Amino acid sequence: MPLFIRKSENMKILFVGDIYGEPGRRILLENLDKLKSEYKPNLIIVNAENAAHGRGITKKIYKEFMSAGIHLLTMGNHTYGNRQVFDLFEDENINIIRPINYQNIPGYGYKVINFNDKKVLVINALGRVYFNLSIENPFTMVENILKTVPHDYSIVDFHAEATSEKVALGHYLDGLASAVVGTHTHIPTADERVLPKGTLYITDVGMTGPYDGVIGVKKEVIIERFINGISQINEVDEGPTWLNAVLLDFSRKEPQIKRIKIFGE
Ligand SMILES: [Fe+2]
Repeated sequence: MPLFIRKSENMKILFVGDIYGEPGRRILLENLDKLKSEYKPNLIIVNAENAAHGRGITKKIYKEFMSAGIHLLTMGNHTYGNRQVFDLFEDENINIIRPINYQNIPGYGYKVINFNDKKVLVINALGRVYFNLSIENPFTMVENILKTVPHDYSIVDFHAEATSEKVALGHYLDGLASAVVGTHTHIPTADERVLPKGTLYITDVGMTGPYDGVIGVKKEVIIERFINGISQINEVDEGPTWLNAVLLDFSRKEPQIKRIKIFGE
């Protein structure tokens, strides 16, 4: 089985972490031109499962992101948080993927993007630790796609809660996937690295949206929930924002993963 890595080619991929509500969309769109000119990515992939007020995505947001030059949206446990996604998934060419290990529910778990003469395979998968969901094994499902779908580069967005599950998948796919990036916790980790067999890895890219709440939600709502068990509706925090992303750079002799952080207002 040939390894995935094609060294010294012009391939840079910008992956932006979970866009949370309107503040997340705003800081992303305000900084996209700057990110393009500074890092010159060939492809831009964004995790958008929280883009619509923290839950799912709408048709309007999808169009807005595509018009801005984003190539593909990945999702997660909130994929179906807004029912407009069912309409979006009726188009088999839609540039949205949802976790591959969901079963018997609309949507696509992976997509191959063509850039020049290269095929970039992007797979979205959901972890099983702490998610009370009936989903298939992400390890074997992702491995199977990587081994059967032709591609030059492969990016796995592993949307999961537990750092242990994410690190384990990174090692399991080391040498098979070009990059494994974690999403979902909204907290960026500082462990970006090249795994021993060459896979670029980070446990969590972090979120793009309000950082002064609790993972995007107004902190008072969440603190009260922890103290009194009173579950109020999640409200998107309106305070200062940040954008978290990684650049997956395969244009170098040794591929590199670089963390990017931008603070908004
Ligand atoms: Fe999530």
